[in-house]
Amino acid sequence: MTIEMNSTESIIGRAEIDDIEAILAVVGTEDSDGRHVVHSDYDTIFTWDYEKGARPKLNKLYEKAKGAQWNGETDLPWETDVDQEKLAVEAAAAQGGFAVGFDVTGTPCEKWGDNEWIQFSIESQNWTLSQFLHGEQGALVCTGKIVESVPWIDAKYYAATQVMDEARHVEVFAKYLDEKLSGHYQVNAHLRMLLDDIVSDSRWDMTYLGMQIMIEGLALAAFGFARELTPDPLLKQLLRYVMADEARHVAFGVLSLQEYYQDLSAAELRERQEFAFEAAVRMRDRFLQQEVWDRMGVDTKQILPLVLQDPNRPAFQALLFSKIVPNCRKLGLLDAADGWLRTKFTELGVIEFESAIDTSEEYDAMAAVPPTKRDLD
Ligand SMILES: [Fe+2]
Ligand SMILES: [Fe+2]
Repeated sequence: MTIEMNSTESIIGRAEIDDIEAILAVVGTEDSDGRHVVHSDYDTIFTWDYEKGARPKLNKLYEKAKGAQWNGETDLPWETDVDQEKLAVEAAAAQGGFAVGFDVTGTPCEKWGDNEWIQFSIESQNWTLSQFLHGEQGALVCTGKIVESVPWIDAKYYAATQVMDEARHVEVFAKYLDEKLSGHYQVNAHLRMLLDDIVSDSRWDMTYLGMQIMIEGLALAAFGFARELTPDPLLKQLLRYVMADEARHVAFGVLSLQEYYQDLSAAELRERQEFAFEAAVRMRDRFLQQEVWDRMGVDTKQILPLVLQDPNRPAFQALLFSKIVPNCRKLGLLDAADGWLRTKFTELGVIEFESAIDTSEEYDAMAAVPPTKRDLD
């Protein structure tokens, strides 16, 4: 049997991964009515098999989720004063001063003083939290779709709790942006492209792969990174609570796909590998923060090649993918088709944490809400 192999160009729209012109050619535009409509054709599946616990691991996850709900309005210290400028100065001091990790000679940043770097840091914070917010809405919508499209009752039950979790995440990130920060960014063009691809795919397992494995896997690592870096106690706690939920969500993806992938053909697995690769490239592109440079008046065509060569970048990227790669390995996606995805992840510079622990059982250790009596029984 021959498996149809797509080229890098046909999967991601460019032959060279670091082709800046092509990356910048993907532009997002604000929809004038504040909405973004994506059409999708997929089957909504009713199941008449109500046997609860037919999939014990999903059932266990569902029972955990019921006891781990928190309230974004009342469980977080919203009275905390957030002074973005002060936080920017503190964060810079902790890293030995302002400036990025690469040589800015010959760029407008060469002439920047503390004021411009503080503004850059504030914009970067506004941008980061805005993208977290949009990603959370993506998770809300995608998981609502999983409730409809997944055929197993235990998965429908679990996904329903995740829908509630995601509503809470959208709510708390929106509140933090509105009340504590100083500006919004629209959804990054690459993130939006990825969300569109995930939500319009007709195959229910692709929603899981795109959202639970790729986007939420990256979110789990990115939230952990942001939590380490921020001196703001409110944001630290907010991220702590959100991460406890995200660890369950990623486990939900791994446990569900593990079963489903067992029966897929080599050709079908290859399609999943290509989808994972495409998602990884979109997420890597999104972290170039092109909108922040734009807003600071720096030509993105000039600065992004330098950003790509930042000596700190490889370690940061590997860390962002430190949940995704072991989970792809656990699902057999790294090794299928002669290790095609391993090669691709190596080219992308994200393979480093291949052997790290996968997320299928990690959620207990990350739980934020003390176990209720029912959990202990
Ligand atoms: Fe979330
Ligand atoms: Fe999530």
